Amino acid sequence: MNDALALPVGTTLDRFIKRKQDEFSFATGELSQLLRDIALAAKIVSQELTRVDLQGSGGTANIQGEEQQNLDVIANIRFIRALRNGGEVCSIVSEEEDEIIHTGNQNAKYIVAMDPLDGSSNIDVNIPVGTIFAIYRRLSEAGSDGTLEDCLQQGTKQVAAGYILYGAATMLVYTTGHGVNGFTYEPTLGEFFLSHPNLKIPNGGKLYSCNEANVSNFPLGMQNYLAFCKEQKYSSRYIGSLVADFHRSLLKGGVYFYPGSSKNPAGKLRLLYECNPLAFIAEQAGGQATDGVERVLDKVPTALHERCALVIGSSEMVDKVRKYMLV
Ligand code: AHG
Ligand code: MN
Ligand code: MN
Repeated sequence: MNDALALPVGTTLDRFIKRKQDEFSFATGELSQLLRDIALAAKIVSQELTRVDLQGSGGTANIQGEEQQNLDVIANIRFIRALRNGGEVCSIVSEEEDEIIHTGNQNAKYIVAMDPLDGSSNIDVNIPVGTIFAIYRRLSEAGSDGTLEDCLQQGTKQVAAGYILYGAATMLVYTTGHGVNGFTYEPTLGEFFLSHPNLKIPNGGKLYSCNEANVSNFPLGMQNYLAFCKEQKYSSRYIGSLVADFHRSLLKGGVYFYPGSSKNPAGKLRLLYECNPLAFIAEQAGGQATDGVERVLDKVPTALHERCALVIGSSEMVDKVRKYMLV
């Protein structure tokens, strides 16, 4: 079934969510509420990102030793608060928190893994950043906090996933496993409107996206693929905000890669709240996501902040990378 059938461009996000819910007789409305909670936090963060006085860093670091920007911390608070108050999520995994956050909603049936602000090195220079989220149904019985097992589910078990891109316009793109739809925020009205129904990623493309400064540390197969891109006269595009680089690939076709190196074989990006949700969206849009060889969604997570090499985008381009990696 396709999420966008019969729903025209301009449909508000709230109406879209409600109409989709009505199509499932067993739906209780909890996932719908959860998506609305995320949209609410997105509106707040979108506004806060415009405030120069909130830029900069307070000097704190996250579990990965990365310096937290003030807006990393603020976005984390906004999303946790919205999810806690919304009542549909029992536990949250966040890039900015060492351990699982329990909301106190012990009867809630959903788990969220999120990167509250992605591309945070771009905040202070007015370059697009994003939020990424994955939603899972808990495995444990309701009535207690979510468990580590609830949070370490395979990407194939995602119930929904999405991202918010805070760019020239703020957009929310999400899937519930029935196609991908994009909504554009109209700040004067305080509403997201359907602007990109039933998104499909072009099968092929001529754009590649990676941090080429790291090329000497790339696996040989990736180095050779990069040489192939240059021979083919492809264009290089790299923003350094995964959400923005992925969004461009989704709309225009292309491949994004952040491979491992001999020092960091699993690369930099995080499996639970960066790779898995974007992999779900990519596949739902007709694209692919691998770690170079293996499908991302098949990977079995072993730790909350586990890293994963990522090759994502147009199907033919991801296939080509896989061929180079296997040689
Ligand atoms: P975050 O800001 O959430 O830590 O994510 C940063 C990530 C991702 O957004 C981006 O694609 C990548 O780091 C950029 O890394 P390099 O600076 O190594 O290219
Ligand atoms: Mn990130
Ligand atoms: Mn982040």
